[in-house]
Amino acid sequence: MTALVTAVLCAVIGAGVLYWLVFTTEGAYLGPRAVTYLYDKGASSYDRIKAFDPVDDAWDLARPLLSTLKSARNPLVLDVATGTGRLPLALLRCLDFEGNIVGLDLSLRMLEEARRKTAGQEGRVTLVWKDGLAVPFSDETFDAVCCIEALEFMARPREALREMVRVLRPGGTLLATNRVGLDALLMPGRSFSTQQLKGLLASLSLTAVEIKRWQTYYDLVWAKKEGDLVPGKTAGELRAALRCPQCWEAPLAFAPATVTCRRCREWYPIERGVIMLERFNGK
Ligand SMILES: C[S@@+](CC[C@H](N)C(=O)[O-])C[C@H]1O[C@@H](n2cnc3c(N)ncnc32)[C@H](O)[C@@H]1O
Repeated sequence: MTALVTAVLCAVIGAGVLYWLVFTTEGAYLGPRAVTYLYDKGASSYDRIKAFDPVDDAWDLARPLLSTLKSARNPLVLDVATGTGRLPLALLRCLDFEGNIVGLDLSLRMLEEARRKTAGQEGRVTLVWKDGLAVPFSDETFDAVCCIEALEFMARPREALREMVRVLRPGGTLLATNRVGLDALLMPGRSFSTQQLKGLLASLSLTAVEIKRWQTYYDLVWAKKEGDLVPGKTAGELRAALRCPQCWEAPLAFAPATVTCRRCREWYPIERGVIMLERFNGK
């Protein structure tokens, strides 16, 4: 009898842990391959499940972001963990946004959805398959760097934020989300208390920090990078700012279907409109 109770208890606990690892935290504690696998699998149903409201995204994300970018003529925006292109699409819907966007993600299937939804905007939306923990661009490239609903899936969120700030130009805007409430408790080590966040952002030379509640389980975090205002790169300079993930050389040589590193000769395909710098699947 005791053995049966123990077995049932173990099965229930095991099932609970498995549910937490796979569904509640979406593979975050199983490593980047698990996160990627789950997002690849769910890519085609992601938008239907999330049912984002474009009007809310315009008011909460795109319009406030544009208001911080007034001094930049054609702002260059990086969206880390862009998923199916929620933020790029919100920006493109604003007729007064004349800039360019780079969407970076670790899930190729999510990026393919983003490409499908931004078809016809290839000149303005560049999609890059890469881990946000090593952003393959030169320092101070972007006028704004965003990361919406994704920091908690990255193994080292502090490092991810540091990378985002590295590629942000002085005077540029950081927009990120931080899990709060019950969702934060369910993902220990992947979110920050307000005090921790303020300390971390200050240590990364960010000022004008504004943290406000957004949706049920997130805070929206706005900040500016300290320093004399320098212009970000222009859209024409974007390619030159892309760096080889192997040896960090730039600029890379672009051909219609590949990018090649001039120093280490490593090459990366461009397939279905995505620059494929990630090296999963034994590539
Ligand atoms: C909840 S979705 C958010 C997508 C999009 N930002 C949005 O708001 O709809 C989380 C995204 O983070 C991506 N992701 C997780 N870990 C990542 C990493 N280390 N580097 C880049 N993207 C990552 C996933 O592939 C997924 O597309």
